[in-house]
Amino acid sequence: MNKTLSFYVHIPYCTRRCGYCDFNTYTPAELRIGGDFASVSHSYIDLLLKESDLVPDAGQIPTIFFGGGTPTLMEPSDLAKILNRLRDRFGFTDDCEITIEANPDTVSLEKLTQLRSIGINRVSFGMQSAVPHVLATLDRTHNPENVVRATHWAREAGFSEVSVDLIYGAPGESLTEWEETIDQALSLPISHISAYALIVEEGTKFAAQVKRGEVVMPDEDETADKYLLADKKFSAAGLNWYEVSNWSLPGSQCRHNIAYWEGKNWRGLGPGAHSHIDGKRWWNVKHPSAYGERLSAGLDPAQGSEILTLEEREVERILLAIRLPDGIALASLSAAQREQMETFLAQGHLSEENWNRGILSLTLSGRLLADRIVREILA
Ligand SMILES: C[S@@+](CC[C@H](N)C(=O)[O-])C[C@H]1O[C@@H](n2cnc3c(N)ncnc32)[C@H](O)[C@@H]1O
Ligand code: SF4
Repeated sequence: MNKTLSFYVHIPYCTRRCGYCDFNTYTPAELRIGGDFASVSHSYIDLLLKESDLVPDAGQIPTIFFGGGTPTLMEPSDLAKILNRLRDRFGFTDDCEITIEANPDTVSLEKLTQLRSIGINRVSFGMQSAVPHVLATLDRTHNPENVVRATHWAREAGFSEVSVDLIYGAPGESLTEWEETIDQALSLPISHISAYALIVEEGTKFAAQVKRGEVVMPDEDETADKYLLADKKFSAAGLNWYEVSNWSLPGSQCRHNIAYWEGKNWRGLGPGAHSHIDGKRWWNVKHPSAYGERLSAGLDPAQGSEILTLEEREVERILLAIRLPDGIALASLSAAQREQMETFLAQGHLSEENWNRGILSLTLSGRLLADRIVREILA
């Protein structure tokens, strides 16, 4: 098989930081740039182009993912420069999937049309919730109508692959309100949904609110019920799970994410971006200024690296593959690990049918325990 290399392109800017988010992203106030992203766009894209020139030849590109931050803050003509450079250098596979993450507040029909015309063919909107007080708790800037408008514009602009990100389990969100969010998402012209349980990330504004007791996180059972409800409604609408937190119509899975989960090679561009090629992993300096300084001085922005041992690669493979419907081969586990897993099998958290065929795969209840099952396998 010919070698391929996926690209992740990080855009580390957001108009405002959402209280729960600890991604490597910066606001105009933090960067003292007075809110003008258009000027940042040109100079930042030039840095990305410089970094892409450092990538050795590595085969065609099957997927590209502009993530963030908020990639839609960049000028489409600047994003086109990256795509053109990557296409010229490496070539795209015929069915190359090119995704952009979008905050519903930062798009218009015109902008989405431009993004489609430069070759981007998949858009993923940060919807999070359809309930205004939940969006307020999450510290989001958009109102729910923006998502409806943005997804319809995306279709009008010619995107056939449209996804939304949802967050469940925010403080004060009832099961009925989560159902409203699910129903609203399913009424949109989309082909894919990612739904994540809210994680309290250390160091965020939200974590401080939880610590001070200003907001109270729901208990695990309530959050598990929300997952079950989501899975039931998504599957009834024809969106099937293909990773614990991801559902899609047939053929609309995100191939970029599948490449990560299958341990394929990918190259990250941008501050803090990680790369993985044949068992070697490395990451760039985190701050945009440090990243800019390095590249402007003709230096590689990589800050650290590690070479995974065969054993570490195997652990990583298990960790990711267990979250997929195909699961992992029982033969890849030791006798002791298999014995440990028998408890989960007896409790109905692993598929008995697959187990009898030599495969360890999660049932619906098992998906709720994915992290615990992985911890026990690796203990
Ligand atoms: C880079 S953002 C998506 C694009 C855009 N920045 C936006 O938020 O609209 C990636 C996604 O990660 C998820 N996310 C970020 N922090 C999270 C947290 N603490 N808990 C759960 N999900 C989180 C959100 O669903 C978010 O949409
Ligand atoms: S969730 Fe998205 S918009 Fe909010 S701070 Fe994180 S990256 Fe920015």
